[in-house]
Amino acid sequence: MPDDSPGNAPGRDDALNGRTLLLGVSGGIAAYKAASLARLFEKAGAEGQVLMTESAARFISPLTLGTLSGREVLTEIFPEGPERDEGGGSGAWTKHVSLGLWADLFVVAPATAQTLARLAGGFCDSMLTATALSARCPLLVCPSMDRDMYAHPAVQDNLERLRDYGYTVMPAAEGELASGLTGKGRLPEPEAIFARARELLSEHDDAEDGNAGGPEQTEAGETPRPLADRRVLVTAGPTREPLDPVRHLTNPSTGTMGFALAEAAAQRGARVTLVAGPTSLDTPAAANGRIERIDVETAAEMHTATREHAAGADLILMAAAVADYTPADPSDAKLKKGDTGDLTLRLERTPDILAELGEDKRSENRSPQRLLGFALETHDGPENARRKLAEKHLDWVVLNSPTQDGSGFGPDTNRVTLIGRDGTEETFPQLPKRALADRLLDRVASHHFSRDAV
Ligand code: CTP
Repeated sequence: MPDDSPGNAPGRDDALNGRTLLLGVSGGIAAYKAASLARLFEKAGAEGQVLMTESAARFISPLTLGTLSGREVLTEIFPEGPERDEGGGSGAWTKHVSLGLWADLFVVAPATAQTLARLAGGFCDSMLTATALSARCPLLVCPSMDRDMYAHPAVQDNLERLRDYGYTVMPAAEGELASGLTGKGRLPEPEAIFARARELLSEHDDAEDGNAGGPEQTEAGETPRPLADRRVLVTAGPTREPLDPVRHLTNPSTGTMGFALAEAAAQRGARVTLVAGPTSLDTPAAANGRIERIDVETAAEMHTATREHAAGADLILMAAAVADYTPADPSDAKLKKGDTGDLTLRLERTPDILAELGEDKRSENRSPQRLLGFALETHDGPENARRKLAEKHLDWVVLNSPTQDGSGFGPDTNRVTLIGRDGTEETFPQLPKRALADRLLDRVASHHFSRDAV
């Protein structure tokens, strides 16, 4: 966007000054907010190009957005213009390609149901969608529509697909909608979109600089310690619920993700208590003795050990795959086959440890404590994960879908989405669990455990 003053003028933002930005605007009632967003980017010193769908022009004038961005708004995939550009390039014919290469970040706000479907389907019927296919930069998609449209599985599936492509989806905000209904579907406020865009750009820059996938290094080559002296409680592995002395109910969790988190937290300076269900893993040695390990077997034992250490913890990472049910009457002696044919087991519920921790945190007003849980979902992942986030009073939930390739219990890699109580969502690519633990800890530590934040 126009920069008529040299250097870093007042109001310029280090993360955005001089950066190249595409703002995709599609045709919904919230399109008017795109003007404020364009203005925020312009003030921060970014250079912007607005791409509007045809129907967006019914809601906001291209002249308004063109004036704010200092560039003519583009709509058609083949805009009017010379077939060759000044440098002899292919000009209007391949504008979508050059824009895709030019941009440091592409923000689509508002993204209507129609535009989401087109993006998810790989359509290239407008400058906005064609450029999205060409773009190499991070994409931030901000859906906006009516409540029931937003909740529709078709829209949610499309959002899921966009996350799979590596796009960042900013969930719609809740409130009064243009239809008069109340619910989820509002475009987040321009300031919130601006903040997320800024964050995304910084994260991308860090990744390009090689800072992702491991604890960041200082210039002196040391690992900074954002969790120095913090107490971190991690649970890991499965639980084992006895039927009799020689049999039990369990699940295939290996504990790898929880152990990786414990190690990543210790490397960041934390004093870690690791409550581990039955696993063959060794306590990570690289953590210089900063991990105290407590081995447990059953959900009840995990419950006791976790509750004992929870009150003093600054951060709790609940990665264990706790059994939800345990045999109600375990036998002291080995169960014999007998003559009765089938065996019926009566199972009773185990305590939901994480829900209790969330409730304690809330009722005892442990406000500086942060709580991260996992949500293992085979279907309706985002919906179920968000429900767990709210019901268990979590700060973050890590959505884990074991049915996707390269995720879940078995493999050493995982693909997850981190969903925050503040509405942020980030889908990570498939990563080794140790690298993923670094990413998760960096997010958690940078937002809530910098020295200034507490
Ligand atoms: N959890 C827990 N205690 C339990 C069950 C689960 O603390 N008895 C924690 C897990 O460690 C995880 C989160 O709750 O961090 C979600 O676990 P998950 O198995 O995905 O879901 P549940 O809450 O058990 O719900 P559902 O079985 O209905 O999916």
